[in-house]
Amino acid sequence: MNNIKTIPLKIAGVGYCVPETVVTNDDLTKLYDTSDEWIYSRTGIKERRLVSGNESAVDLGAKAAEHAIAKSGLKAEDIDMVISASSAPPELYPAIGCRIQAHLGIPNDVPAFDITAACSGLIYALSIAKGFIGSGMYKTILLVATDNNSRLLNWEDRSASILFGDGAGAMVVTASDDGVDDIISIDIRANGAIGDLIKLPLAGKNCPLVEPNTEEPQFIEMNGKEVYKFVARVLPHYVEEMVEKAGMKAEEIDYLIPHQANLRIIQAVQERLGYSDDKVVTNIKYYGNTSAASIPLALAEGVEKGNVKLPSTAILCGFGAGMTWGGAIVRLREGIC
Ligand code: ACO
Repeated sequence: MNNIKTIPLKIAGVGYCVPETVVTNDDLTKLYDTSDEWIYSRTGIKERRLVSGNESAVDLGAKAAEHAIAKSGLKAEDIDMVISASSAPPELYPAIGCRIQAHLGIPNDVPAFDITAACSGLIYALSIAKGFIGSGMYKTILLVATDNNSRLLNWEDRSASILFGDGAGAMVVTASDDGVDDIISIDIRANGAIGDLIKLPLAGKNCPLVEPNTEEPQFIEMNGKEVYKFVARVLPHYVEEMVEKAGMKAEEIDYLIPHQANLRIIQAVQERLGYSDDKVVTNIKYYGNTSAASIPLALAEGVEKGNVKLPSTAILCGFGAGMTWGGAIVRLREGIC
C-alpha cells in the first residue's frame, strides 16, 4: 500500500470520552484479595473508569465522535463512512457504527460497520480508512474505538478484572487538501494460532432438541502471563523495525503513543526507542486498559492536556486479542483536538 500512489489522508480531528465513575485499586480490595501495591507495581494502574446505569460504549463513542467531528471543522453530513472498532460492545448487532451513525445524524445511507481487532482496533480501522480514502472510494471517514469492558469481565477473576476500564476515542480522517499525507507509515498484523491467549466466548447454546444444555455465563478469559511474554518479545522489535522501514530514525519522531495495557510493556518499547519520559504518552494510571479506545484516548487526552504539542509526529502502536498488533507513524496537525 505504501508504495502505491494514493490520495493522501489528513487526520482532521480527534476526541475522547470516559465515564464519570472511578473505581480505584483500593475499591477492588472489597471484591477479592488484592492490593493497590500488587496492581500498581505490576501494571502501572491506580484506577479505572467504569460505565454505570444504561451508559454503554455507544454513548461514550458518540460523545468522543462528536468532539472529533467538531474539531475537524466538518459536519456530521460530511461523513461518508463510519468504522467502529470494539471488542467489548454492548450488543453484537446492530453494529456500534450504525448506532453512532443514527445518534449523530450522519447521513442514513452511508456504510457503517464494526471491526474486531481488540486493542489494535484503531490501527486496523485507520489502515482500512487509508485504503478507502487513498483509492478515492470515500472521502471522509469517522473512526470510533469504544469498549465497555466492565460488563464483560468476571469480577471474581482478580487477574483479568484489575486490568480493564471503559472508554472511547474517535478520529475523523479525510482526503488531504494540501497534498500532505498524515499517515507516514502504517502496518497491521495478526497471528490467529495463539488466539486463545485472550478470548471472549459468546454464551450460545445448542437447540434443546440436539442436546440438553446448561447456560454458563461467559466472560473475558486471559492468560496474562503468556500475553505479557508474547508482547514483550514482539512489540519493541516490531516498533523499531517499523521506524526503520519508514526510512526514519526514532529520534526524528516526537512521541510514542502506545496501547495502554501494562506500563512495563510500554517501558520496554520506550527503552528500545531510547525515548525520554516526556516523549511517551501514558494515562494507564487513571484509565487502565480501555482496549480499542486506548490509543485514541491517550492521543486526544495527551493533546488536550498539553502533553502532546502540535504540530508533531507520533508512533501509534498496539496489540490485542487475536492476537493482533499494528503500528502507524502519523503527523498530528494544529487544531486536531
Ligand atoms: N492481586 C493479588 N494477587 C494476584 C492478583 C491480584 N489482582 N492476580 C493474580 N495474583 C496472584 C496469582 O494468583 C499468583 O499467585 P500464586 O503465585 O500464588 O499462584 C501470583 O499473583 C502471580 O500471578 P501471575 O498471573 O503469574 O502474575 P503476573 O506477574 O503475570 O501478572 C498480569 C499478572 C498483571 C495480568 C500480567 O501477566 C500482565 O500484565 N499481562 C499482560 C496482560 C495484558 O496486557 N492483557 C491485555 C491484552 S490486550 C486485549 O486485547 C484485551
